[in-house]
Amino acid sequence: MKEELKKTEQEALKSLEATSDRQGVNLLRTRYLGRKGVMTQCLRGISTVPAADRPEAGRLANEVKTRLEVAFREAIERLDADSKEPSGGLDVTLPGRSFARGRLHPITQVTQAISEIFLRLGFEIAEGPNVELDYYNFEALNIPKDHPARDMQDTFYISDDVVLRTHTSPIQIRVMEKRSPPIRIIAPGKVYRVDSDVSHTPMFHQIEGLMVGENISFGDLKGILTTLVHQIFDEETSLRFRPSFFPFTEPSAEVDIQCVICRGKGCRVCSHTGWLEVLGAGMVHPAVFEMVGYDTDRYTGFAFGMGIERIAMLKYGIDDIRKFYENDIRFLEQF
Ligand code: DAH
Repeated sequence: MKEELKKTEQEALKSLEATSDRQGVNLLRTRYLGRKGVMTQCLRGISTVPAADRPEAGRLANEVKTRLEVAFREAIERLDADSKEPSGGLDVTLPGRSFARGRLHPITQVTQAISEIFLRLGFEIAEGPNVELDYYNFEALNIPKDHPARDMQDTFYISDDVVLRTHTSPIQIRVMEKRSPPIRIIAPGKVYRVDSDVSHTPMFHQIEGLMVGENISFGDLKGILTTLVHQIFDEETSLRFRPSFFPFTEPSAEVDIQCVICRGKGCRVCSHTGWLEVLGAGMVHPAVFEMVGYDTDRYTGFAFGMGIERIAMLKYGIDDIRKFYENDIRFLEQF
């Protein structure tokens, strides 16, 4: 009886192992565990076993039956789990799940692109504080106390002699105070003015440039700015220098580029002039050099300052500066 049970169990498990479909497993289960199955017969057969061996035989038979039940249940569970896989396993033609990827703000991208152009030209990057002393923002830049640029309308005053910087020009002074020529720096950063409409936000960005040394001329300024414009836009974009006034440069110029929208023919963006103003520049005023203790007979230099939003708007064809700061992901995702 014992041998017979062992043989039956082994046979059943072997057949089960060799069966890989549900129907086959069910048939086997009926054969071994069904009402008229092998195990039922075995259990019935126990009555023919001598009375002394009967309890032992019964226990064994029940153990085998339980083990087979478990084996069949597990086999069916395995088949169920497998059938949840799509037929043929993995469908490699299904589109993948994409990750939401962040990106740099367009203003950061333009700042980096401009910075890279200057780094290639041998300029270094300088920084200064956003909350600035009146001295650096105005006084040292030859902007006297009664200059219109100091008007309460434009400047955010923190106190009588502390302001939110209205331009990146104070960084020129901070750099020159610490170092002697030759100097070649650019200074990108945030600036603040009391102003708000389609082309003005209370906070915006500028890049300042400064080059000081012996024999630095207006020609160098033109060369550097021409290279810059050709690299940001294209080689076809021409520049125009218009005489202007800034307290910290003499002579001063406002620099226009040929309208990148209409190519100089005249359109709404350039107010039908064919030109767009992009930056202010000039030769550093001797009064500024005196403020930082430079020898004005020995050194000359040029400086310039440009609005980054303005460049970004022209580069990407954006007509409202406020879009940069509304944090609308649909807008920002395009860059
Ligand atoms: N700081 C000026 C402004 O915000 C721009 C500027 C003009 C900067 C001429 C300069 C410069 O360095 O030489 O309008």
